[in-house]
Amino acid sequence: MSRECFYITTPIYYVNAVPHIGNAYTTILCDVLARYHRQRSEKVLFATGTDENALKVREVAEAEGVDTRAYVDAMEPRFKEQWQALEIAYDDYIRTVEPRHVRVVQEVFRRLMESGDIYLGSYEGWYCVSDETFFAPSEVTDQTCPNPECRRPLSWVKEDNYFFRLSKYQDRLLEYMESHPGWLRPDYRANEVMAFTRAGLKDQSVSRINNGWGIPVPGDEKHVIYVWFDALLNYLTVAGYLEDEEKFRTVWPPSVQMMGKDIFVRFHCTLWPAMLMALGVELPEMLVGHGFWTVEGEKISKSRGNVVYATELVKELSSLSGAAPELAADAVRYFLLREVPFGADGDFSRSALVTRFNSDLANDLGNLLNRTVAMGHRWCGGVAPEGARPDPALAEAARNAAEEVHSALCDIQFSKALEAIWTLVSNGNRYLEQSAPWNLQKEGKTAELGNVLYNALETARVVAVMVNPFMPACAARMWTQLGLPGTPGDSVWQEAVEFGRLPAGTKLAAPEPIFPRIDTAKMKKPAEAAPAKKEPPVTEERALVTYDEFKRLDIRVAKILSAERIEGATKLLRLTVDAGEEQPRTVVAGIAEHYKPEELPGRSIVLLANLQPAKIRGVESQGMLLAADVDGRAILLQPDAPQDVPAGATVR
Ligand code: MSP
Repeated sequence: MSRECFYITTPIYYVNAVPHIGNAYTTILCDVLARYHRQRSEKVLFATGTDENALKVREVAEAEGVDTRAYVDAMEPRFKEQWQALEIAYDDYIRTVEPRHVRVVQEVFRRLMESGDIYLGSYEGWYCVSDETFFAPSEVTDQTCPNPECRRPLSWVKEDNYFFRLSKYQDRLLEYMESHPGWLRPDYRANEVMAFTRAGLKDQSVSRINNGWGIPVPGDEKHVIYVWFDALLNYLTVAGYLEDEEKFRTVWPPSVQMMGKDIFVRFHCTLWPAMLMALGVELPEMLVGHGFWTVEGEKISKSRGNVVYATELVKELSSLSGAAPELAADAVRYFLLREVPFGADGDFSRSALVTRFNSDLANDLGNLLNRTVAMGHRWCGGVAPEGARPDPALAEAARNAAEEVHSALCDIQFSKALEAIWTLVSNGNRYLEQSAPWNLQKEGKTAELGNVLYNALETARVVAVMVNPFMPACAARMWTQLGLPGTPGDSVWQEAVEFGRLPAGTKLAAPEPIFPRIDTAKMKKPAEAAPAKKEPPVTEERALVTYDEFKRLDIRVAKILSAERIEGATKLLRLTVDAGEEQPRTVVAGIAEHYKPEELPGRSIVLLANLQPAKIRGVESQGMLLAADVDGRAILLQPDAPQDVPAGATVR
């Protein structure tokens, strides 16, 4: 890759949910590539961030009764905490509410209106708030989102909208795809994109009615810019587009843009390049769509209670193994990248993680490093022996591994790169078994013993250089145990992987297992373990409350007296309820998509009565209606025999 800067991007994450292990995967993949290119002495710009102007972000804030801006501001540290726990070393973190981004988005919109690529029209069709996607009636069969990962109920939208002339770019896009093999990765996804494009690209609605959240359309503040149009432009903002010419010249185009398969075809491989064509800006060099993770065989979802957060998982693995948190994070990174061939879907399970931890890390890697360093202390005065000759077979194995790692990483094949490194680890372990230094020591063959130990130590050093982008904390510990200063990331990869560079006489540090073996006998057997659905692990979002805390909640049965829609809010209803008090209360509830106002009066509901009142769409809500959340659908709760339960009855 011959360019001035290796610019790599993650999608920017919707800010309404803390990233789970599935989203974290996208970021880990990018971090590994960024670290690898930095280690090769390239200039790197690794950007990630948050997508904050979405309608769904506003709806979540509203449902929580919080001001949207305050809500998004409060989420930033929670994202950064997850990334820190996973050792993500990004160079720029962009939030789409930042002025630098708002300026770029509005200017791009203005320019495209001027060039005629954006025009005012009117839209009638479906919208999925969860995916923030417009769907044509022909794409929808049962009023639910056609995205198989979503399937949530859709809203029917009829409003004046600005449109982007996507159809105009259909032929140019197809031509580009056909003449640039390898532009879209993995290859099989390119076929999907071409089929989608050939089926016909319709002009894309790029605005929504302004309900007080989002970037206003310049010159027409009744509309806000469609969140995907805004979000995709973050990649230009980060690169200094329109604002820092010199930076933009060195950084653009992105070398790799990484994302999950769900947002690959429609947004990143058609809309995004067409927007760039309209602006006359060069296209990214590579767009990469990875597979999806499930957890213990199930789709990751809050309502299933199976969401795994990085911070929790790292804590859990660290306490199970006794490894430091940063090493537990390394193990999680290793697992996610090694477990599935890149592009395929994967299933995360704790047992598979522990198996890899014990076999690949504690055993294979641990053996190579620890017994060699321990023997160095016992028999060679604790230093890398003098006068050794690099073993030709090991040197060749190291050369092969280096070539394979490099070509696998240029080809975005993470598991292949790790397999190549582990082949070298196995070669090192086999070399030790075959040369049996313990016998050489018994036989007094000191020179040969020194030779063998030097070669084994040197293999461990080369492995440390190669694992550094994947497992930076582990690589640093290996480096320290080998007595080397700094970390493997300080030296240039191409030179550091050359076999035979360990200086003779280097003083080894005390041998210490980096990944202490997990005693699986002490782990709960699946039969004893609580079923994942009923008792998911305690996460930040499911922290335990004390009985005293629970007692503070005033939960009661209430009766709905009247219900009406709130103007401009598709999800909200204003309810007047009898909660057994002198005066009825007003409650704002997010159930408008599933219940018609006329079917509600007379129904019993469950109400959290002592929630701090909050203004939602100008209406003060005096309490919160409790409902079951079934994949985003709110289903009302009511007593078994409602006629026997008076309004105001306590729920305990
Ligand atoms: N905000 C948009 C992206 C805008 S980029 C201009 C978005 N955000 S997201 O938070 O929903 O998703 C971010 C990333 O997480 C995507 O790459 C998505 O594919 C990925 N994943 C979400 N769930 C996942 C799994 N279960 N498994 C793997 N990746 C997952 O989309």
